[in-house]
Amino acid sequence: VDDSNFVTRPPVVTIMGHVDHGKTSLLDKIRSSKVAKGEAGGITQHISAYTIEQNNQKITFVDTPGHAAFSAMRARGADVTDIVIIVVAADDGVMPQTEEVISHAKASGCPIIVAVNKMDKETANMDMVKAQMAEKEMTPVDWGGDIEFIGVSAHTGQGIDDLLENILLQAEILELQADPDAKAKATVVESLLEKGRGPVATVIVQNGTLRVGDNIVCDTTYGRVKAITNDMGKPVKELGLSETGNVLGLNDVPVAGSFMVAQNSDKEAREIATTRAEHARAKELSKSTKVSLEEMSGLIAEGKIKQLPVIIKTDVGGSLEAIKGSLEKIQNEEVKVKVIHAGVGGITESDLILASASEGCIILGFNVRPTGSVKQKAKADGIQINTYSIIYDLIDDIKDALSGMMT
Ligand code: GTP
Ligand code: NA
Ligand code: MG
Repeated sequence: VDDSNFVTRPPVVTIMGHVDHGKTSLLDKIRSSKVAKGEAGGITQHISAYTIEQNNQKITFVDTPGHAAFSAMRARGADVTDIVIIVVAADDGVMPQTEEVISHAKASGCPIIVAVNKMDKETANMDMVKAQMAEKEMTPVDWGGDIEFIGVSAHTGQGIDDLLENILLQAEILELQADPDAKAKATVVESLLEKGRGPVATVIVQNGTLRVGDNIVCDTTYGRVKAITNDMGKPVKELGLSETGNVLGLNDVPVAGSFMVAQNSDKEAREIATTRAEHARAKELSKSTKVSLEEMSGLIAEGKIKQLPVIIKTDVGGSLEAIKGSLEKIQNEEVKVKVIHAGVGGITESDLILASASEGCIILGFNVRPTGSVKQKAKADGIQINTYSIIYDLIDDIKDALSGMMT
């Protein structure tokens, strides 16, 4: 018997674009809140999601960072998405990350809307933006193409209603459907370890309804939903189709991009997660032995150090991925970064143990710090801990360290 109950679900809309073109400001204007002003250096460094209501219809927005370091996060943003909004500043026009997001957006197969932002500026030039976008095969509807270009301003609010109406129109064409009564399945768009609250996962519900009390599995982690807060931080009992919120109750920080799936029982959830974790550990062990043997022989052959070993700790899973990706890309023939360990959470004694096992290993903390005793122990053991709150400061430091080691 097919007892499924499909209903129309709200669209999930991801906002992408070059750094500082106004993605967060635009979302702020839509939500009438002030997120952008509270960010370190005004830079988005993680993924966040919000559900809003326009004419009694819900829309979930995913905000992504524009800086070059976050390409993995943008790719992940494109994963959960029904519709992509590419934000292009009307004065700047197409920039490097605009080109990158065009590629992500095209690859996702989602409908694309171009929001030409900062139309309030005197130097705004819609025709320039259209011409530049048309060159990238993003031809505007009024130029004979199939992409809607909407002039907006996050400052004055101009064009925002138009943008929202366009989103709802696209969503209608997509005929998005899901079953609110199905087993809950949600995508983790961001994750972190919060002091006093434990692991927190920001999710978007793909199918079913996620409720407080549900037994859940998320990659190698599991638990029971202890509490859910919505995007305004208010406690809610459940998240419906396409809705976003923060879920508490997992036993560990889940990988961003993984699926959270409700299970019938506590036992079932635990068993699935434990089996997955064992597999992952076995794989990790066999990998690390092989790598270190190769490195040992390489070191012996060369007679000098050719790599910078690092341990990366961050507050959220998305930045971890971004930093790791960026550091692994800074390579030249002479010296490489070697990530010994990367994890979410504060800098602990076990990080020090790992660091001391690897000659010259530096610990990099992003938005996390060592506690007093860990700091003292690091000093005594001669282990360097560098902490940052802006990702590209971290990356610049490592670039400098690598070029210094080459001379
Ligand atoms: P990242 O997350 O760092 O990639 O940036 P973003 O795209 O989210 O841009 P953000 O919202 O942080 O805005 C960057 C700057 O542009 C801020 O100084 C905003 O005040 C300004 N800005 C954003 N939208 C507008 C707009 O419509 N008009 C004008 N004049 N300035 C804007
Ligand atoms: Na910004
Ligand atoms: Mg932003």
